[in-house]
Amino acid sequence: MDIDLADLRAHPSSDVFEEVLAEVADDVRELVGVGEVADYIPALARVPADRFGMAVADLHGDLHTVGEADRPFSIQSISKVFSLILATQRFEGDLWDRVGREPSGDPFNSLVQLEHECGVPRNPFINAGAIVIADVLSSCLADPLGELVALVSELAGAEIPIDGEVARSEASTGYRNRSLANLMKAFGNIQGEPDDVLDIYFAQCALTMSARQLATALRFLANDGVDPASGHRVLDVEKARRINALMLTCGTYDAAGEFAFRVGIPCKSGVGGGIVGVIPHHLTACAWSPALDRTGNSVAGRAAIEQLVERTGLSVF
Ligand code: DON
Repeated sequence: MDIDLADLRAHPSSDVFEEVLAEVADDVRELVGVGEVADYIPALARVPADRFGMAVADLHGDLHTVGEADRPFSIQSISKVFSLILATQRFEGDLWDRVGREPSGDPFNSLVQLEHECGVPRNPFINAGAIVIADVLSSCLADPLGELVALVSELAGAEIPIDGEVARSEASTGYRNRSLANLMKAFGNIQGEPDDVLDIYFAQCALTMSARQLATALRFLANDGVDPASGHRVLDVEKARRINALMLTCGTYDAAGEFAFRVGIPCKSGVGGGIVGVIPHHLTACAWSPALDRTGNSVAGRAAIEQLVERTGLSVF
């Protein structure tokens, strides 16, 4: 369908998105199930590959969905956006002394760069960077995990649970993350005990949310830091823009260049198959489909966000 962008902006309860989402679901149907479900976390290996759901949160506070948009899934690395938001809100020191802001060009769990760069992770969205953020949160909050769950639940407008089985499953096999945390401890960039910090990290990755809840929770990133439904300011405009910038450059790891080229909006993915995309001043979208490509990004999820951009003509460029 041809979309009138002026119309899209002017009409508070535009039903254009319902139609667009139905078309997007059709576009990606053949890709659903293409790729591999993450199995290095044993509890995730059981998720059926042939699932797809998508939600769009617009700036009028309305939600639009297609497919299994209400089915909860493991948000995994998408949790790194929430922990960065909490650290941005609450940490009074300079976060950027501890973690960089450059794309890594390496897989999300790579150890190589970290040794060369003396234990300072390239960005807060690779595993090492998110482990540093978990350490920062433990240094400034009495109950970092409780505060994180409270923030995510408040933003999503629902009680968001941690799947204890997924967290334990990752803890029992998370040797690479243990290596990253111990290496950074040796370089002096982790203050707490590595195992304690990892407990927080594994638990945050096991937060379980639906596409609808994720699109809702991060819609403030499309609205200069203000939740469009409640009017509540979550972050100041500059900080919200910076999170979007990091999502664009680092949110999909060694596929970030390809995402920017093909999709062209800030995105954050997780190995549970979710991808959140933000089109500033228009919408936040979340697509979920568990089968992943070799970079750990959902095949059908990426195609769905790409088709949403293609069909609406909305982009940051
Ligand atoms: O630490 C891990 O490997 C997982 N808990 C999270 C990785 C992840 O989701 C990467 N995303 N595409």
